[in-house]
Amino acid sequence: MLTVNNVSKLYRRGGREFAAVDGITFTVAKGGFTVISGHSGSGKSTLLNIIAGLLKPDNGTVTLDGADLTALGDRELSELRNQKIGYIPQGHSVLENLTVLENTALPFYLGKRPGGGEPYSAAKTLLTRMGIAELAGQYPAELSGGELRRASIARALINSPALLIADEPTSDLDLDNARTVMSLFADTANSGVAVIVVTHETQSLEGLTYSSIKLKSGKED
Ligand SMILES: Nc1ncnc2c1ncn2[C@@H]1O[C@H](COP(=O)(O)OP(=O)(O)O)[C@@H](O)[C@H]1O
Ligand SMILES: [Mg+2]
Repeated sequence: MLTVNNVSKLYRRGGREFAAVDGITFTVAKGGFTVISGHSGSGKSTLLNIIAGLLKPDNGTVTLDGADLTALGDRELSELRNQKIGYIPQGHSVLENLTVLENTALPFYLGKRPGGGEPYSAAKTLLTRMGIAELAGQYPAELSGGELRRASIARALINSPALLIADEPTSDLDLDNARTVMSLFADTANSGVAVIVVTHETQSLEGLTYSSIKLKSGKED
């Protein structure tokens, strides 16, 4: 489903070049749950941005359902991203002046929808799956960190992506909420989505089934 093949990204700092991501190779099957861990600065966000098609690697390829993301033009790439990739960036990304339900449905309107569809009932179903159906009419400012995170998972799933990726989705949560959020990712994988989560702590994953990739920073041996 997703193949990351020998991906590298070079950055330059203080006149010296270093590999922020250095020859990473792995695959995630439909229904697979992959966790990428590593210290701060080990290249987790850089790798995730490459997989999401937001950043071009200097080396290697990323293939999703047979399409090489690194070879697509901007228009094809943004269409593919909208249709096939649900991306939950680090930090908060919901729009404050839209309700939880409107935030969840929003990506539906950002892509081509030739067949129409009814995003609000789909959004409601997703909010129910995330356990926050009763918050549909609330505004983000009225939600806790854990509830906001669950809303952003619902939003990332609205277009039924083949691939769901999340950058440190539990970094601002206590352990109980982190476990709830991680088990929602595991459930999402079980429903047939390929899921990649980046985290620097793995305690919240106890009891879940996942495959693990550890990144090392260029400064370590
Ligand atoms: N645009 C950039 N230009 C130069 N260096 C960068 C850039 N983005 C990230 N870096 C560096 O690349 C390394 C990896 O960064 P990042 O992927 O954000 O790590 P992580 O998400 O694991 O904390 C860090 O040393 C960071 O300072
Ligand atoms: Mg990061």
